[in-house]
Amino acid sequence: MRHLIDFGDMTRQEWDALYRRCSDIMDRPQDYLDACRGKVSASLFYEPSTRTNFSFQTAMLRLGGSVFGFADPNSSSVAKGETLKDTVKMVSGYADVVVMRTPWEGSARAASLYSDVPVINAGDGGHMHPTQTMADLTTITRLRGGVDGLSVGLCGDLKNGRTVHSFIKAMEKFRDVKFFLISPRELAVPDYMRQFMREKGMWFTEVTGLEAVIPQLDVLYMTRIQRERFLDPLEYERNKGIYILTRRKLERAKKNLLVMHPLPRVDEIAVDVDDDPRAVYFQQARFGMFARMALLYDLANQPRMDPGAVEIGTRRVCGNPRCITRTEPYLPPLVRQIGGVDCCAFCDSPLR
Ligand code: CP
Repeated sequence: MRHLIDFGDMTRQEWDALYRRCSDIMDRPQDYLDACRGKVSASLFYEPSTRTNFSFQTAMLRLGGSVFGFADPNSSSVAKGETLKDTVKMVSGYADVVVMRTPWEGSARAASLYSDVPVINAGDGGHMHPTQTMADLTTITRLRGGVDGLSVGLCGDLKNGRTVHSFIKAMEKFRDVKFFLISPRELAVPDYMRQFMREKGMWFTEVTGLEAVIPQLDVLYMTRIQRERFLDPLEYERNKGIYILTRRKLERAKKNLLVMHPLPRVDEIAVDVDDDPRAVYFQQARFGMFARMALLYDLANQPRMDPGAVEIGTRRVCGNPRCITRTEPYLPPLVRQIGGVDCCAFCDSPLR
């Protein structure tokens, strides 16, 4: 693995090796104090973040490395109109690994075409967030012993929730996982995710009610309604506050349920749920730091590599208004098949 753009880029063997490393770091952190000594991580955050940005920074510091970057692109030459390509090319000349979050879908894959060092997708718009999935899998494996055979409820904004999309991608690598996809119809998973699940033969059902399915679940993964992704503010108003997990609703849940959330939360989990032993979302965020340490250990220690020439795009193929190809028109018009359908290779949207 050279970059981490999409959890689907990782094989099951690579994940198992990464989890073993992550476990070892949790159990013996003193053995890793110099694991990235002399290495430098670039942190390019074009969008707000608490957990991902700080956990990546602390991960690198705990491995003995250093960090530079921005949390506000307006403090860099992005504000003067510098392209993503040029920013990444420059930064990859200074750093050993680039950690990147943006509002544009497919931006991390675009950056990986031009970077001399590994690129890590720390969230690309409403598309993917693979290192959150590493935190999620670490939480489930550490607390339940494994992922195979679990019934998982994903609840909330499944259309715009990138953590949900990456999580589903990852579950294809495990056996007999059942998905209860709980959302209002207008916030259901995108077509490319549905096509992916069908292509991989994954078990899933789509429902609108939370309470009816709670008793069947081993994991309940709550998500925020992603206000910043709505093009129509009225659509957000219609859906905000639609799911709120309370202590009362948990009465009918399994005693060993894991209540997870990538955070930040708004109101979808009542504060008094925090004291229920089944609520593991703060632990989940801490596990994320160790998972990111394991990833940085692998990627920051890779040799630099010239990515080679990239075709210059001359026509736009993707109709997704949030796709990186809309704002960075020099990108090549790459296409790949998902479930037999031609899709944009950056944002996965079906090409019509
Ligand atoms: N889970 C997550 O990505 O949180 P942040 O947006 O705070 O990084």
